[in-house]
Order: sequence, then structure tokens, then C-alpha cells
Amino acid sequence: MSVLYIKNAAELITVKGHSDGPAKKEAMSEIGIIENGSVLSENGKIIAVGTDAEISKEYAAKIADAEVIDATGRIVTPGLVDPHTHIVYAGTRENEYAMRLQGQTYMEIMNAGGGIHATTRATQKASFDELYEQSNERLDKMLLNGITTIEAKSGYGLTTEHELKQLEVAKKLNEDHYINLVSTFMGAHAVPLDQKENPEAFVDTVINEMLPVVAEKKLAEFNDVFCERDVFTPEQSRRILEAGKKYGLKPKIHADEIESYGGSETAAEVKAVSAEHLLRASDKGIQMMAENDVIGVLLPGTAFFLMADYAEARKMIDSGMAVALSTDANPGSSPTLSLQFIMNLGCLNMGMTPEEVITATTINSAHAIDAADRIGSIEVGKDADFTMFDVKNHLMLSYQYGMNHTHSVVKKGKVVVADRHILN
Ligand code: NIG
Ligand code: FE
Repeated sequence: MSVLYIKNAAELITVKGHSDGPAKKEAMSEIGIIENGSVLSENGKIIAVGTDAEISKEYAAKIADAEVIDATGRIVTPGLVDPHTHIVYAGTRENEYAMRLQGQTYMEIMNAGGGIHATTRATQKASFDELYEQSNERLDKMLLNGITTIEAKSGYGLTTEHELKQLEVAKKLNEDHYINLVSTFMGAHAVPLDQKENPEAFVDTVINEMLPVVAEKKLAEFNDVFCERDVFTPEQSRRILEAGKKYGLKPKIHADEIESYGGSETAAEVKAVSAEHLLRASDKGIQMMAENDVIGVLLPGTAFFLMADYAEARKMIDSGMAVALSTDANPGSSPTLSLQFIMNLGCLNMGMTPEEVITATTINSAHAIDAADRIGSIEVGKDADFTMFDVKNHLMLSYQYGMNHTHSVVKKGKVVVADRHILN
């Protein structure tokens, strides 16, 4: 019996009460703060949550044998959930960053054979072990940043063999690393350069060759498409997402990242779990997504790094869309591993409040990967995943920006980061 007692947080931020459906509108501001709060877990699950006065009295016998984390003067949140990453890749693209600073655009670089194609070449060339090692290092950094669960997309393989390799690496990382990885198949991330003349044939390959084997090997839970001009059209995206549904893969979509191209409307039509990016989502698209319960996964790090206009988070929330936030961690458009910086961008550049960005990186991001029954809030029965930040209240998290405030991390009841170091 292993019991963990996190004691007396200045603010225990539970984000409770939103597990049946994502938080929308005003509910996104309800983060369930308990001052002088404590939480008790046993065998990896939360068994009690309340003020320290309540917990220390009611559970005195259990506490006698517990491992204790003193959270006095600090805040404790649910372990952060990052619901959109491309974490399994090889190589880096700092050369393209320099090119963009000289005025070239992201899509120009991609259409000239760089961008996603450059990372695809590096990822195809990398062995399983190389891919594993490079991705594992990034996961360690995410854990040190307070992230305990991520979504991980394929899409740098672009052939059946290499898409499978990427997904197998994600599977092994999920088994080995403290961070849990939820996998998304994204064979339709780009049309391979040698098939540029016949994108429909590649769409057929994704549907007829890749999807069945990914499903058969149970390597993914979601299916995603990059719906964008010069990549996949809304019609092709719809075909791929509908085909995935037949194999039980839940639809997600990269929508309206660079231009308004009908991705948001497509997300609503296929009833995607989430539509991601949405920098250029139309008003009609926002309305349709709100009506069809599509979660908006917003990635302000990408707007920041591509020097583009930000998604209209305020309009989306006020229209009734549930919003989640994510790093989009990838080597081209958002090479960050810090969800805390993303929270800061959410506040300063997308008009979100400090409370909304916490909801958007915990319970709403858990909903975006269909895992809110287990994670995303501090409630009895859920996984004991917590992040303790070295700040005295939740406003400080996004106020002191560009810093890592993570002090300790607990995954399934086990202390995995203590005093800013990963424990083995
Ligand atoms: O989410 N937009 C498509 N995919 C990624 C970028 C991938 C890359 O540039 O390597 C994104 O921004
Ligand atoms: Fe992405």
C-alpha cells in the first residue's frame, strides 16, 4: 500500500466538476481552488481532497504511513496535459528558422522541399533506437516542465513502414517513460514529394494501406489530417477522417492554420473530437464547431514562432466552444516543450484569463484526448497526477513568463520529479 500525502498547498487547484464534458464559457474560469489544500492518494489513485484541516483529521491513520510532500507556499495543479504534439521526430530545423527571419514563409520552405519534408527525410533515415533516444530526451524536458500526459502524432514517416516505426516508438515511450503518450495517426501530414503530381493516389494509400494496419496493430487512438491549401483539401480530409472512423479511430484535424480553407467547417461536419490551430477559423466555422461540440485545441506557440496572427480564443470561448491549449511541439513551427509559456501567450495574445489557461491545459486538454475520466483534475478516483509549482498563487504561473516554475511532479502516485530533478 503506497500512500502519498501532498500537504497544505497555498492553492490546491482541483479543476473539479468538468469531467462529464469539457468546460465552456464561464465554467472555464472555475478552477476549484482550495486554499491550504491537501490531497491523499493510494496505489496511484486519488482517495481524498480537501483543506489540510479536514484531511489531516479524517485520514490521520493513513497519513501516519504516508510519504509526504510539503506544499506549503506553493501551488499544486493536476499534472499538465499537452494534447497536440509531434514529439517523435529526428533532427532539427534551425536553418529554416534563420530563413524565415530573412523573409521566407513557412509554406514557401515546405513547397520547396523543406519543412515537414525535411523532418520526414531525417525521420525515415533514423533507426528505431535513434528516434527513441531523441524523443525520450524531449519527454524528460516536458516532465521537468510539469507535463504528465501528451498526445503524440505520427506524420514524419509518410510511408507505411516509417509511419509504423514512428507509432511503435511512441508506444514504447509510453511503456517506458513516466509521461503517458496517447497516439494519433497522421499519415496525411504532407503529400510526399515524389507523389506531388497525384495527391489522390497518396490519399488512397493512407486510406487503403496505412489505416488498416495502424488499426490492426492498435497503434493509434486518433486520426488526424493537415487540411490546408497545397496540403490536403477539405474533401480529401473528410474522406480520410471518415475512413478512420470505420476502424474506430477518432477524428482530429489541423484546420485553418495558415489560411481560412474550410477546415473548421469540415471539423464540425465530421464531428471531430477536436480541431487544432484555427488561426484563421471563420466566424461560420466557429459557430459550427460550437454547435457540434468540437474542442478547439489552440497552439499560440505556433502563431508566436511563425510570426502570425493568433487564433481568436476569446471569440471561440464566448461562442460556446471548449478551448484547450497545447505546445504543438515540433521542429518546424513550434520547437518548444513549455506549456507554461503557452499559458502566458494564451493570456497576453489571445485574451484568455489566467484561470481559463489552467482549465485549457488540464481538464479541457484531457477531454481533447478523450481521457478526462482518468486525468485532468484532482478528484477522488482519478489518477494521482500532480504538478507542484514554486509560486504562491496561480496568477504567478503565467505572470512570471518564460520560466519553468515546476518544482515537483507526481505520476500515478509516484514522485517522479523532486526539487527539479527526475528521480529514477
Ligand atoms: O502543427 N501544420 C502541420 N504540422 C505541424 C508542423 C510540422 C512541421 O513543421 O514539422 C504543425 O504546425
Ligand atoms: Fe501540429
